[in-house]
Amino acid sequence: MSTSGAREEARARDAADPLRAFRARFALPHDAHGEPLTYLCGHSLGLMPLAARERVLEELEDWANLGVEGHEHARRPWIPYHENLTAGLALIAGGEPSEVIAMNSLTANLHLMLASFYRPQGRRGAILMEAGAFSSDRHAVASQIAWRGLDPEAALIELAPAPGEDTVPEAAIEATLAARGEEIALVLWPGVQFRTGQAFDVARIVRAAHAHGCIAGIDLAHSVGNVPLAMHQSDADFAVWCSYKYLNAGPGAIGGCFVHQRHVDAQPRTRHTGALPGARLAGWWGHEAPTRFLMEPSFQAAAGAAAWQLSNPSILAAAPLLASLSIFSEAGIAPLREKSLALTGFLETQLEPLAADVGIITPREPGRRGCQLSLRIRGGAGRGRQVFEALMKRGVIVDWRAPDIIRVAPVPLYNGFEDAVTFATTLAQVLRA
Ligand SMILES: Cc1ncc(COP(=O)(O)O)c(C=O)c1O
Repeated sequence: MSTSGAREEARARDAADPLRAFRARFALPHDAHGEPLTYLCGHSLGLMPLAARERVLEELEDWANLGVEGHEHARRPWIPYHENLTAGLALIAGGEPSEVIAMNSLTANLHLMLASFYRPQGRRGAILMEAGAFSSDRHAVASQIAWRGLDPEAALIELAPAPGEDTVPEAAIEATLAARGEEIALVLWPGVQFRTGQAFDVARIVRAAHAHGCIAGIDLAHSVGNVPLAMHQSDADFAVWCSYKYLNAGPGAIGGCFVHQRHVDAQPRTRHTGALPGARLAGWWGHEAPTRFLMEPSFQAAAGAAAWQLSNPSILAAAPLLASLSIFSEAGIAPLREKSLALTGFLETQLEPLAADVGIITPREPGRRGCQLSLRIRGGAGRGRQVFEALMKRGVIVDWRAPDIIRVAPVPLYNGFEDAVTFATTLAQVLRA
């Protein structure tokens, strides 16, 4: 199809898109001359919902007007502020409200979950994770292993794609567990892989981990707000995420955790136990609200995942998430996924004529990916980097992941089919140049 034909088709699809109106609810970035940019980088930092500014300003106003009284008398009192986020996060993560909590940021939450769920014992001391994991996850895992007095060289098992492959099939995880399951205490796996965009069958990975007596934890950084999730049903023991990507809650926004109800139920609420999976490190915000301010030395855990909170949360880092979650519940997870599949499929089709220069390493089956496509420019990493820089210069915002990947994400809440055409035509121009 000609470029103008593709653009016409894209415009028609945008006009018919039932979610199109949501685009106007986000701040769309411009260049220094006021020209709109084509923003395809929601996998890294989601755009600002316009309502985020209002939610933050409300908190600043309440702080200005009420001072400390805002803890109880702000329009959304700060002491129970996290409760405003629970229903939205439960929807996004596919958990019970009692199983989710907004707190901290991703790596801190991963450490807290590993403190609770990584229980090396005897021969069963290893953690299985992907080779090439996001660096922070690996740092967290390796340091947890070392912190327990074990050797990460021996106790960190990293599963790489087969030679010549970019992705890891679930069967390879099952095979590793079948071969070494008795050594493995915990499996940490991403819901969607950050570099390749591969979406995993979380329930299948959890099933395999449990079948071999391992705890299963999932990093949902690239999954929340991107693919539909059913964390409770999947039976994962825990999950962690950040909210600045597809959840559009702003740089450094408050992160989140899922803790399966069975662990919540298994924990004594009045005692700290160091020897059981799910034992918590505690702080006053995990103490039940009614008696928290009695400041007694004994700990009475809040019900649910809320018991894992340590500190009173940053209200300013949480307010934008409130704005974003209400957009998600308005739009609905199923319609968003439907548009996402169509949009990413459309982008893929637009890239087909460029196949001699551009390889897509993301799985081609729609069920095995979210909205992100990861592209490898043929001709080596140097050429790839040049292409990336040329795209950015022409106002197409994507990102570069070393050693050789350009990541592109048409996000269904604010991207349209025409953005996909703009990306493909600009990429074609850049490649020709
Ligand atoms: C997969 C993954 N893990 C960990 C992190 C680190 O997140 P944070 O800085 O919120 O701890 C990120 C950030 O992008 C990520 O994508």
